[in-house]
Amino acid sequence: MKRVSTVAALRRELGKLRKNGKTVGLVPTMGALHEGHLTLVRKARAKCDVVVVSVFVNPLQFGPNEDFASYPRRLARDAALLKGCGVDLLFAPTAETFYEPDHQTMIVSPKVQSMYCGQYRPGHFSGALTVVAKLFFAARPDFAFFGKKDWQQAWLIEKMTRDLNWPIRIVKVPTVRGKDGLALSSRNEYLSEAERAGAPAIRAALVALEKSFRAGERRVALLKRNAERTIEKAGGKIQYLEIASCRTLMPLKALDEEAVVLVAAFFGKTRLIDNIELKNRR
Ligand code: PAJ
Repeated sequence: MKRVSTVAALRRELGKLRKNGKTVGLVPTMGALHEGHLTLVRKARAKCDVVVVSVFVNPLQFGPNEDFASYPRRLARDAALLKGCGVDLLFAPTAETFYEPDHQTMIVSPKVQSMYCGQYRPGHFSGALTVVAKLFFAARPDFAFFGKKDWQQAWLIEKMTRDLNWPIRIVKVPTVRGKDGLALSSRNEYLSEAERAGAPAIRAALVALEKSFRAGERRVALLKRNAERTIEKAGGKIQYLEIASCRTLMPLKALDEEAVVLVAAFFGKTRLIDNIELKNRR
């Protein structure tokens, strides 16, 4: 595995590897890798000839009061894990080399970027879309891999790619969870023991909601209320819990199309997100 830290070096190395119509897969990450990330990497390894993983804690997607400074950084460990997965290229730039000192241009997706997570993290999705766009042009992948754990992010990236006709296939990978159902996240390590014990209630609430939906319950308000109660009983503080259209991501009043339940809840100071899809199977 080669490790590069500038766009010029990334392009140079990819130029050598891309010969003879080989396909390139890109897995963007912010590092502190866990099984969730590594599952994306393995999917990329299985599907593509050349696999590039980026590790970059992107300052543009953190708000002024968020955890940019304290976000875990462990590049040496990440590099060893990626090598073990058979990655060809690790792209780990610094903010100073990746961004112009007076970076100005941003990608915006005005409607959906300010809903759900975006409502509480202003600028977050614009920052994430902008870094992903930069990574796409730096690596020019045929396939790019994103986790469904960040459902709204994956939706926005897929929409950006389609809206702008970029020839990149977005592969969305199911959420990887702990044995108790909690979605793996680099932020789980912020949880105290008691908070960690309560946090799986998020998944339990979503599974119960989906089960109730499959049994025929269609009252959106009732489904939401029951899920909220389960999370609150376990000590969680709901930030939002919404049922949205998979197609448009607009909130649904009636469950007459494929839907996704999106939730963010605090356990202590730690904000956790999760989701579950509701599909009419007949
Ligand atoms: P990060 O949080 O490091 O996640 C990188 C990728 O791993 C994202 O596509 C995310 O959805 C996926 N992922 C995280 N936890 C997962 C889990 N438990 N199961 C499956 N996939 C999981 O998301 C970002 O970084 C950034 O916003 C990024 C896209 C890299 C842009 O900076």
